[in-house]
Amino acid sequence: MLKEGGGRKIVRLILFFLLLFHGHGKASDDPAFTLLHPPQRSTFTGTGLVHLVVEVSKAAHLSVRLNGKVQGKPRVTERTYHYTLRLDFGSNKVEVEAVEEKKILAKETRELFFFSVIAKEKEIPPGFVQIPFHETKKAPKKCVACHILEPQKTDRAPASPSESSCHVCHKGLLQFRQVHGPAALWNCLACHNPETSPARYATPVPVRDLCYRCHTDQKDYFFSSPYQHGPTATGMCTICHNPHASDNEFWLKKPPWDLCTTCHTEKASGRHVIAWGPSGDTHPTRGRPDPMKPEREFSCRSCHNPHASKAPKLWNFNATTYMQLCQTCHNK
Ligand code: HEC
Ligand code: HEC
Ligand code: HEC
Ligand code: HEC
Ligand code: HEC
Ligand code: HEC
Ligand code: HEC
Ligand code: HEC
Repeated sequence: MLKEGGGRKIVRLILFFLLLFHGHGKASDDPAFTLLHPPQRSTFTGTGLVHLVVEVSKAAHLSVRLNGKVQGKPRVTERTYHYTLRLDFGSNKVEVEAVEEKKILAKETRELFFFSVIAKEKEIPPGFVQIPFHETKKAPKKCVACHILEPQKTDRAPASPSESSCHVCHKGLLQFRQVHGPAALWNCLACHNPETSPARYATPVPVRDLCYRCHTDQKDYFFSSPYQHGPTATGMCTICHNPHASDNEFWLKKPPWDLCTTCHTEKASGRHVIAWGPSGDTHPTRGRPDPMKPEREFSCRSCHNPHASKAPKLWNFNATTYMQLCQTCHNK
């Protein structure tokens, strides 16, 4: 949802070309562009999706590099240029250069940090801060010229994605194989409260009760189980699940085996369960079909429940003894 109709856009375009032909040449110390977003040394969470917004004042090739890798080098003439980046976990460096005939006209860099509990690099370096984009008190003026940044009536239950005012800016969030029900309907406000302040659209911390509002089966199972898994018991469901979309089943932030071994690093060695055997061999923990659900890969979650269980080692199948667990798959 953008602010203006086609007519005004054309006027803007004409004005722009007038500017282009008259305004240039005279002020050679004009920067060729200004990076409007993101702010320097800011921290991101969630998926690590960031939008570069560049105000261009001279036609040039805009070279965008993320951690040294060239992301693109389009020729830009439009006044405001947008570019989507997916950050790596931890420290990131973004470099933007305006290049014309091999000459660098201008350059700006941004150091950004992508924080996640399941990243290797967890310490946020000093000087980095999380700066919410949607602050109730400070609407970003440069953006409001073209964009609607106030929540709209249609945002509650949009008839189609483009009816949601969030869509034009956040469509990249759902460009994955699996999309979570309420996000697929663009019912963003089911989870993001437009009334929170000073940061708008904040979600509750911990998020558990919000998830359990719809997932009542998981709620009942969790509270009736005597043993609860640490990260789930903290109520921080989004340590493991992306609330919007993911390429992994159940919108996990990593494939199941990689997810578990991020924290249980010692299990990545593969030595587990029957490692005491005479040959020193061990029980497989991946790389074959799951006998209980042959359509998917066997992994940690085939034996362990990631949320809660009747047994202290978080076994599945309501097993409380070794025998019951082993016999589920090795029944004869
Ligand atoms: C099921 C609840 C839920 C729904 C529906 C939902 N979100 Fe979120 N969203 C969250 C939570 C929780 C977070 C906090 C991020 C985290 O902990 O991973 C979040 C984080 C975000 C972020 C921060 C950046 C990021 O990559 O995570 C953006 C942007 C966002 N949501 C936009 C949206 C938009 C746009 C929609 C509608 C399509 C939407 N959300 C729908 C729960 C939800
Ligand atoms: C000159 C008008 C203009 C200005 C100023 C402007 N935008 Fe945009 N923005 C657009 C247009 C046009 C689109 C593309 C809409 C579409 O894809 O349908 C867009 C798209 C976006 C997208 C989605 C990009 C993508 O590829 O998914 C984001 C995010 C965004 N704008 C953020 C901002 C922010 C933040 C600011 C202020 C710093 C801003 N814009 C300023 C016109 C503008
Ligand atoms: C003008 C484009 C634009 C629109 C419209 C927009 N957002 Fe955002 N939003 C952004 C940008 C830019 C960020 C910062 C992250 C990034 O660079 O993509 C952001 C960040 C967020 C975050 C993370 C917390 C924060 O404030 O930084 C949430 C949550 C979010 N948006 C939700 C929404 C929801 C819900 C809607 C619709 C009701 C919406 N946004 C509409 C551009 C937009
Ligand atoms: C507004 C209701 C609503 C909220 C709130 C909600 N969900 Fe969901 N969720 C659904 C619906 C509907 C489905 C089933 C449709 C689908 O697969 O997307 C679903 C499916 C799921 C699934 C896959 C279930 C399966 O068996 O395939 C997971 C995982 C999930 N949600 C996690 C979460 C987490 C984590 C949260 C909190 C951040 C949450 N949900 C909040 C409505 C919700
Ligand atoms: C964010 C880190 C984290 C992730 C990811 C994680 N765990 Fe855990 N896990 C913990 C912590 C911390 C404990 C200890 C607290 C407790 O007893 O629940 C624990 C405990 C356990 C236990 C019980 C240990 C005992 O001695 O009783 C099992 C089994 C387990 N996790 C399996 C898994 C599986 C399977 C996965 C993947 C689906 C997983 N974990 C993912 C942090 C994590
Ligand atoms: C330690 C990582 C982890 C945490 C934390 C976590 N989950 Fe899960 N969740 C998983 C895994 C792994 C699966 C897939 C289980 C499987 O394959 O059977 C899953 C499956 C699900 C499903 C699909 C149906 C089911 O029960 O198998 C839902 C719904 C769900 N989780 C919701 C939640 C909610 C709500 C929270 C927070 C209270 C949460 N999860 C916390 C790892 C986690
Ligand atoms: C074949 C079923 C099975 C698979 C697959 C499996 N486990 Fe286990 N796990 C067990 C059993 C049985 C125990 C109890 C072992 C004991 O008490 O010595 C256990 C114990 C644990 C414990 C607690 C005790 C310890 O040894 O630290 C953790 C943590 C754990 N498993 C994590 C994992 C992770 C992570 C994976 C995937 C890499 C995994 N498990 C795969 C069956 C399994
Ligand atoms: C969720 C299903 C499941 C459970 C529960 C399970 N296993 Fe297995 N087990 C497997 C699979 C799959 C294989 C690999 C079979 C293959 O490669 O053909 C396997 C293989 C084995 C092997 C042969 C190892 C090798 O190197 O070939 C032994 C021994 C074994 N399991 C013992 C156990 C014991 C003891 C338990 C209980 C603690 C147990 N299993 C629980 C699925 C399971």
